[in-house]
Amino acid sequence: MTASFDTLFAIASSARDNAYAPYSNFPVGVALVDEAGNIHAGANVENAAYPQGWCAETSAISSLITSGRRKITQVLVVADRIPGGRFCTPCGGCRQKLSEFAAADVVVWSCDPAGEVLERTVGQLLPEAFELIEQS
Ligand code: THU
Repeated sequence: MTASFDTLFAIASSARDNAYAPYSNFPVGVALVDEAGNIHAGANVENAAYPQGWCAETSAISSLITSGRRKITQVLVVADRIPGGRFCTPCGGCRQKLSEFAAADVVVWSCDPAGEVLERTVGQLLPEAFELIEQS
């Protein structure tokens, strides 16, 4: 089951509204779809001890796994543009985390708050990913 862009964008945007990002002032929201078509939202959660914070993707993956799912079939990220006017794509660590549960052809939509979008696949974002279990 595939979720529409508009549905995922609305859910990720509302997660972003709840992000806890008082240090960076860079709130991020994510919506993931699992193998049953359920949607999992996540936001970044920062901490006064900076390295203890984590990304929105990590929050959303945690929700998906906690609900008993093991596959990511769609990803949508909402954040402000980053320097150079570029879209906020998942950070390097989150690319690795996503690739644990997402096949290389899974689409990642990176959106700005206005809904402009850059489309990439997990395989494009993390070519030659390190894995010890083959993705089915
Ligand atoms: N961040 C995310 O949540 N996801 C990304 O894809 C990029 C970065 C967060 C981490 C930190 O809370 C803030 O954005 C600034 O780096």
